[in-house]
Amino acid sequence: MSVYILGIESSCDDTSAAVIHNTRVLSNIIANQRVHEKYGGVVPELASRAHQQNIIPVIDTALKEAKISKNNLHAIAFTRGPGLLGSLLVGTSFAKAMSLSLGIPLIETDHMHAHILAHFLTDEEERPVPRFPFLCLTVSGGHTQIVVVKAHDDLKIIGKTIDDAAGEAFDKSAKIMGLPYPGGPLIDKLAKEGKPDAFSFPEPRIPDLDYSFSGLKTSILYFLRDQLKQNPDFIEQNKVDLCASIQSTIISILMKKLELAVQQTGIKEVAIAGGVSANSGLRHAMMEAAEKLGWKVFLPKLSYSTDNAAMIAMAGYFKYLDGDFASQKIAPYARQSSR
Ligand code: KG4
Ligand code: ZN
Repeated sequence: MSVYILGIESSCDDTSAAVIHNTRVLSNIIANQRVHEKYGGVVPELASRAHQQNIIPVIDTALKEAKISKNNLHAIAFTRGPGLLGSLLVGTSFAKAMSLSLGIPLIETDHMHAHILAHFLTDEEERPVPRFPFLCLTVSGGHTQIVVVKAHDDLKIIGKTIDDAAGEAFDKSAKIMGLPYPGGPLIDKLAKEGKPDAFSFPEPRIPDLDYSFSGLKTSILYFLRDQLKQNPDFIEQNKVDLCASIQSTIISILMKKLELAVQQTGIKEVAIAGGVSANSGLRHAMMEAAEKLGWKVFLPKLSYSTDNAAMIAMAGYFKYLDGDFASQKIAPYARQSSR
């Protein structure tokens, strides 16, 4: 079967559209919104306005780059949630209108599931695909989850954060240090020059497979407040070591629970997904676990780690095969559990 799907992603601050042919990516266009940088975080109202401006050119470019006409599409897949409602509404409304005008099915997808299903995308680079059941550590700006993936439509969360997400831990730590938003990629870059054991921050004691990151943020805040009293240039002088130490603490917290999940489930095929899966330290820790613990690890291509519409089209493809279509009455949801 030959299926062309257009994916539309607008859950947060990236407007993205992608075309896939079965699992193969033909185009994956992402318009980042720079407007939030000066505010130190995403401003929801500005995000929805920027989506409105970006959505038509982004979809147009995705179709052009894929070298197909909209009349050749078989379905339109969009992000229904979780995310910012105003942002989700832009993609949802556009997807509905497009499916109606083209007379093709509308497919709703869950953003967090799509991050995981991105592992099934194929392009010119050959990559191994995980086999069911596998574990996935899904780490983004709003979520941190350990998921047992039994099938593309059977995903069970066995651990999650009780407060901040791992991406938030990166972004908030960066903000405390006066670094611009989003801080994750910047901490990753600076950490490469620093010593991960220069400073130590306490790790939370949370039962089972759940995570907590809010304590780390507070301990960084107090630590820096005390240091700055003695030396106002402390952050500037220790920036790379601070970044390396913070990053290594976040990775250590993430990996300990992931190791526990592998022990508890006996599943040794382990993937990571979501924006934080782009982190070089986390990728390195996964490769080490593969070597030391005998895991088979799956690291997404960098362009499919952070928000993108190829993953939405991929999740849409699986639903297309199942005939799982959405109605024109469908509304977005802000939180995953509210479905
Ligand atoms: O999945 P994503 O693009 O958007 C959400 O669904 O939230 O994830 C964004 C998060 C942000 O917190 C960003 O700082 C973080 O992913 N991030 C990183 C890196 N690249 C993106 N965190 C650490 N290291 C990176 N290289
Ligand atoms: Zn995401």
